[in-house]
Amino acid sequence: MNNKLIKLSSITKKLLVALFGTFLLVFLLFHMCANLFILADDGGDAYSSFCHFMGTNALVKVAEVVLLGTFLLHICLSVILWCQNRGNRPVRYQRPSRTKTAKGSKLAIITGSLLLVCLLFHFYDFYFVKLNVVKGGNYMVKTEDFVISDPSQEVSEEAQIIVMQAIQDQKISKDGRWLRQLSHADKEVLQECFPDAAFEPDFYNTAREKFSVWHIVLCYLVFFFVVGLHIRHGFESAFQSFGLNHYKYSRLIEVLGIVYTWVVCLGFAMVPLCVFFFK
Ligand code: HEM
Repeated sequence: MNNKLIKLSSITKKLLVALFGTFLLVFLLFHMCANLFILADDGGDAYSSFCHFMGTNALVKVAEVVLLGTFLLHICLSVILWCQNRGNRPVRYQRPSRTKTAKGSKLAIITGSLLLVCLLFHFYDFYFVKLNVVKGGNYMVKTEDFVISDPSQEVSEEAQIIVMQAIQDQKISKDGRWLRQLSHADKEVLQECFPDAAFEPDFYNTAREKFSVWHIVLCYLVFFFVVGLHIRHGFESAFQSFGLNHYKYSRLIEVLGIVYTWVVCLGFAMVPLCVFFFK
């Protein structure tokens, strides 16, 4: 691990963990709100436009790098702090500490590790598809990308069948601008005939497909539970690290933490549950 990180004082490390963690808490609220578009009754127009914006805007791309950097630093610093705290106390206390902070910190390293495992599965479902590391899910492409500018250009029969079938299955968006719900294999065939067409992951249909399978819904509910356990501790401990845990406000901070955790977890859980039961 980076030597510069290890050499920081433990107060600085704690502050940075809290700062990066707060940034991640803001991201989580934003991500949860954005996901609710999946439930809009518009055939996926709103969510797909949002994903298109997020996938193509230059500023968002910078924000994505910042987010992943923040995420890695939050993990690295937390692990260093935890190892150093253990190293500073080679002889275990005879009686395990029962203070809220000590129990919370121990829980945070366990829930944080579980969260990391859940996130890897989550990335496999969505984010790695966007990075082209995983060849799965659904794809979409603008219909205008199918314009043939060169009359000598050959469009294979296979590609024609895919497009005709997609039109028949009403995979064209309401405004006629997008062809959606293409499998990875269909995308490969079309890409050969239209090399300039900009294919993007169709996260709306990918999410709907995933959340129509009961065991995937169950896994995601476990994921949100782990998220809840982790942020329930993280919220309060960030206030403590910033020195904002005055006894007058500690009850208020606790209530805010509980409200935030429930809002975020229920908001996330609504998507797979509503897709599974009502769509
Ligand atoms: C219903 C639940 C969820 C759905 C449908 C969902 C969907 C998605 C999608 C579609 C992406 C790719 C977005 C893109 O790159 O353009 C993504 C990325 C991501 N998700 Fe989720 N997500 C869910 C829950 C969560 C939770 C609970 C967490 C965190 C604990 C999380 C953390 C992330 C992160 C860190 C990324 C990568 C960064 C990014 O692309 O913005 N997601 N998610």
